[in-house]
Amino acid sequence: MSIISTNINKAVSLLLAEEIVAIPTETVYGLAGNIFSEKAIKAIFETKQRPFFNPLIVHISSVNQLPEIVSYIPEKAKLLAETFWPGPLTMVLPKKETIPDLITAGKNTVAVRIPNHPVTLELLSKLPFPLAAPSANPFTTISPTTAQHVETYFKNNIKMILDGGPCKQGIESTIVGFEGDKAVVYRLGSTSVEAIEKVIGKVSIKNKKEIAPDAPGMLERHYAPQTKTILTDNIIEAVKNNRGKRIGLISFSKHFEIREITFQIALSPSGNLEEAASNLYKIMHELDQMNLDLIIAEQFPDYGMGKSINDRLTRAAKNN
Ligand code: TXA
Ligand code: MG
Repeated sequence: MSIISTNINKAVSLLLAEEIVAIPTETVYGLAGNIFSEKAIKAIFETKQRPFFNPLIVHISSVNQLPEIVSYIPEKAKLLAETFWPGPLTMVLPKKETIPDLITAGKNTVAVRIPNHPVTLELLSKLPFPLAAPSANPFTTISPTTAQHVETYFKNNIKMILDGGPCKQGIESTIVGFEGDKAVVYRLGSTSVEAIEKVIGKVSIKNKKEIAPDAPGMLERHYAPQTKTILTDNIIEAVKNNRGKRIGLISFSKHFEIREITFQIALSPSGNLEEAASNLYKIMHELDQMNLDLIIAEQFPDYGMGKSINDRLTRAAKNN
């Protein structure tokens, strides 16, 4: 029997019993458990094979719960919460003492967001505790954007996947922290830097592990398919350099008239960056099943969702 189900009450029962359940969000599917249950949180780390130094995001359903999670809310954080929640923005704030060290990897800050998905908002509203939920994929692999992706990864390890359909945004939340008066983006994601800057002014981006030791988990090789992947702004040249290989091509909007390519797909034929972002992981999952020798991905325009797509493709292409 499939573990995929739309039964919210069943998910409530399992979570109350300290089990873990995969849940839909607008970004990617998460692997969720009660933040106060050591058993559930340990099961999340074990199932994902995620190192304990990599902290989790706390998911709440209402901004009224924020004071139970964090000890201080800077003005800029209030503005961002008003503008983007529920939505794909995670904020790193000073934590309340009651938040377990397992959630924060011992840090004195905690990451928190309100996801924008009706099923998970209903689930959260029926639970007496917030949910910790990392993306529902084994450590460093491609994040899941459908219940079927989660099933492929974890069908023998978890009891239930709450089905909420395909994720609309398709890339993880943007993570913002505060260093003194300054807002810092620790992870590019589904809320664009431009949208954030419209609300609170200029922000800095510390998206790389070397310059952001404060954001563990930003490993360079991440979101990675099994198939060797390269990212380039010169598709024709890259194909020429790889003659004889079975090549899958991911482009932004164009179709390339190149015979040597085994399979090609444009993430948004109409040139819409949001649409491209929502298709990215789905296509990476598909290409990874096709027994290709190589995935060649086209560099995206470096603004809006294009910046976040480039970030994920760069990581996918690291050291493989
Ligand atoms: O869109 C999302 O954010 C999805 C959905 C399920 O909500 N969740 C997600 O979780 O992407 P995960 O665990 O795959 O990524 C969480 C990231 C990690 O890179 C972690 O290092 C960072 O959040 N993080 C968590 N707590 C932090 C903290 N206190 N300081 C800095 N970074 C933190
Ligand atoms: Mg993840």
